[in-house]
Amino acid sequence: MMQLKFYIETVGCQMNVLDSELAMAELIAAGYQPVSAKRYADIVLFNTCSVRQHAEDKIYSALGRLKHWKDQKPNTIIGVMGCMAQKDKEAIFKRAPHVDIVLGPGQLRQLPNLVKAVESDKQRQIAVSLDRLCHNPAYNNTRNSAIKDSFRQFNPQRLLCTRDNPYQAMVRIMFGCDKFCSYCIVPGVRGPEQSRPPHEIEAEIRQLADQGCLEVTLIGQTINSYRYKQGEKTRRLQDLFTMIENINGIRRVRFVTSYPRGMTNDLLQAIRDLPKVMPFVHVPAQSGSNAVLKRMKRHYSVEEYRDLLDRIYATIPGAAVTSDFIVGFCGETDDEYQQTVDLVRYGRFKNSFIFKYSKRPGTKAAELFVDDVPEAVKKRRNNELLAVQNTISLELNMAMIGQTVEILVEGTSKIATKRQTSEQNASDLVQLTGHTPCDRIVVFDGSPSLVGQILPVKVLQVAPFTLFGERM
Ligand code: SAH
Ligand code: SF4
Ligand code: F3S
Repeated sequence: MMQLKFYIETVGCQMNVLDSELAMAELIAAGYQPVSAKRYADIVLFNTCSVRQHAEDKIYSALGRLKHWKDQKPNTIIGVMGCMAQKDKEAIFKRAPHVDIVLGPGQLRQLPNLVKAVESDKQRQIAVSLDRLCHNPAYNNTRNSAIKDSFRQFNPQRLLCTRDNPYQAMVRIMFGCDKFCSYCIVPGVRGPEQSRPPHEIEAEIRQLADQGCLEVTLIGQTINSYRYKQGEKTRRLQDLFTMIENINGIRRVRFVTSYPRGMTNDLLQAIRDLPKVMPFVHVPAQSGSNAVLKRMKRHYSVEEYRDLLDRIYATIPGAAVTSDFIVGFCGETDDEYQQTVDLVRYGRFKNSFIFKYSKRPGTKAAELFVDDVPEAVKKRRNNELLAVQNTISLELNMAMIGQTVEILVEGTSKIATKRQTSEQNASDLVQLTGHTPCDRIVVFDGSPSLVGQILPVKVLQVAPFTLFGERM
């Protein structure tokens, strides 16, 4: 039988990037062949995001563009996976009737079976969880446990060929989110917080180490909420760090995303004391105004967040902190926005991700507040805040000029090929890229054979998001 070819287009956060990787492994194991572009594929899958309206609009227009293709090649199988599949469910078939598969993030394991079913029966397939969005009166504990069961409790297959490079890998340590920030769709589409058992995480990281992986990034929506009860003991994030410290081959550990309230001093001390744990914390603040944080239901004050920043910088030498901010949240006044600008100045963040508020149906904010900040104001605040942040990013990078930093060489830079000069030996060198412990990108010249090594590089020049250096 002819091997069908598949392509997965991924948007959204690291959860989705990892899910696509796992889905790829499942499909390969089931006999399907990955291809490098949509145009070669018999099966086109979109792994989608619902966090902002714009992310959804882009997927619906991409699906729209495939209509014509499907008319010409009716055997093409089109699937929508991920958070938008969970949120919109059957409605996707109504909006895009040429879609064959709708698959929620909790049903990932079923993907090969659904593809096979479409191949043989030519019937649409859907697998999603019961609804958890807060507008749904059916949301109660019974349903909650049903969602819980639908999530994949298993040791996922980690195939080397599904990762960007063999030296780095993401490892999920928890599913879902229970925080229900008023603006956010994630708890509705990703289900309740569930921590994976430490022995599964350990087995997966050992397997990755055996494949040559040097750096693992632990992922979870609120990673410092990780808790797993084992008899009398409750395992926390710092216990996982200690466990990984003892895995041969793994040299670096990162973790995203932290929730401000769970950053206890003992966790910060573990980051400081365990050599493999990198001094980098992504801890989104969202706003610098107490009134806005209250409307967002973030459950901390700006004073507590500033105290957290002070504790991070005082505890972890050379720590880099990054944050997320939402501008133009319901009712955000100029004064409230200015307080966010103040917090960005205070925070000395390595960088910040800044988003314009996007109303999400089914969330508390959509129910309780009016999305009343005009688009033009959101845009202006977004650009202004970004400019403030970029100045800080550049200043922090400039302070690194002359320093020698350890780089994990991840690969060659995209602009490497232009270095084909007539200088002697120049063609042996390419532009290499890697990250510092504090998660800054470094570009420097070197031999391609250095890829996969951890080595010192001296910083010579900087831009807001990149350091340029030379090998020591
Ligand atoms: N779990 C992480 C972030 C998940 S979503 C955390 O709690 O920090 C990533 C980012 O998207 C959020 O930090 C927030 O800044 C942004 N975001 C979430 N919902 C949004 C919305 N409705 N409109 C605009 N930005 C949003
Ligand atoms: Fe969304 Fe808040 Fe959960 Fe982050 S903590 S995923 S922002 S609900
Ligand atoms: Fe988007 Fe889902 Fe991640 S909504 S941000 S892909 S958890």
